[in-house]
Amino acid sequence: MKITEFGLDVFSLAGRNAIVTGGNTGLGQAFSLALAQAGANLFVPSLTPEDGTTRALIEGVGRRMEFMEADLTMSGMPERVINECVARLGSVDILVNSAGICLLDEVADFDRDKWDPMVAVNLTAAFELSHHASKHMRRQGHGKIINIASLFSFLGGQWSPAYAATKAGIVGFTKAYCDELGQYNIQVNAIAPGYFATAITETTRSNPEADQRITQHIPADRWGDPADLMGATVFLASPASNYVNGHVLVVDGGYLVR
Ligand SMILES: NC(=O)c1ccc[n+]([C@@H]2O[C@H](COP(=O)([O-])OP(=O)(O)OC[C@H]3O[C@@H](n4cnc5c(N)ncnc54)[C@H](O)[C@@H]3O)[C@@H](O)[C@H]2O)c1
Repeated sequence: MKITEFGLDVFSLAGRNAIVTGGNTGLGQAFSLALAQAGANLFVPSLTPEDGTTRALIEGVGRRMEFMEADLTMSGMPERVINECVARLGSVDILVNSAGICLLDEVADFDRDKWDPMVAVNLTAAFELSHHASKHMRRQGHGKIINIASLFSFLGGQWSPAYAATKAGIVGFTKAYCDELGQYNIQVNAIAPGYFATAITETTRSNPEADQRITQHIPADRWGDPADLMGATVFLASPASNYVNGHVLVVDGGYLVR
């Protein structure tokens, strides 16, 4: 593209179809609405039954939403999710791997009962979904995979060995996929959110000492609002980022610099 051809339509997702795992709650809901506002239709696989809130947001901006109840850790489920999206919407152009869990415990008590489910959701499901989505993306000649990393991709964290391991793993897998899929016009990037007020951070937020310690560490002097992630999502899902590949975009109010 010549510089004179550049326009803000490079941020448009009109005609695109996107999957957002965990799109019924928390950050996933913000990712879904951001993509819909930019023009994409949504396919939302969810562990819990549909409660209508994400649908109201998506349809409220004139986009289509398809829902599928799915435990992404079940054998064969990630492939079914991708195939179902293609069957119902016609393609999978964007995949946002947002589903995740965080189980906390002291190292002495952190056993396989906590480790295994976290690896299954945070890492293996994201890998399997990307694996199957990338086959369609290769055939259609374009695709965007956005993985959701964390500050724990870079930092340690007490009581969270599996969370830190899976989120560091997400970064490694993002780079490896980018390296191989870039030649097919598929961009694989990650967003690393800082501290956001959702269900996954409820335990931390309900502890006043932890809440204060975290807030004092953030140059922006506040926890993130899910809306703070919406611009980064549209950027990484759109042609505006076609030469951005293998990047981890940190959206943390500056936490990492302090
Ligand atoms: N909230 C934060 O501060 C923060 C910070 C960094 C990264 N993240 C990451 O953002 C992502 C979204 O988290 P959130 O903050 O919205 O929390 P959340 O608890 O609201 O969302 C997690 C979603 O994952 C889904 N999920 C869990 N297990 C699943 C399974 N087996 N199959 C299908 N879906 C499953 C849940 O149903 C839920 O919709 C996670 O990957 C999380 O690690 C969150």
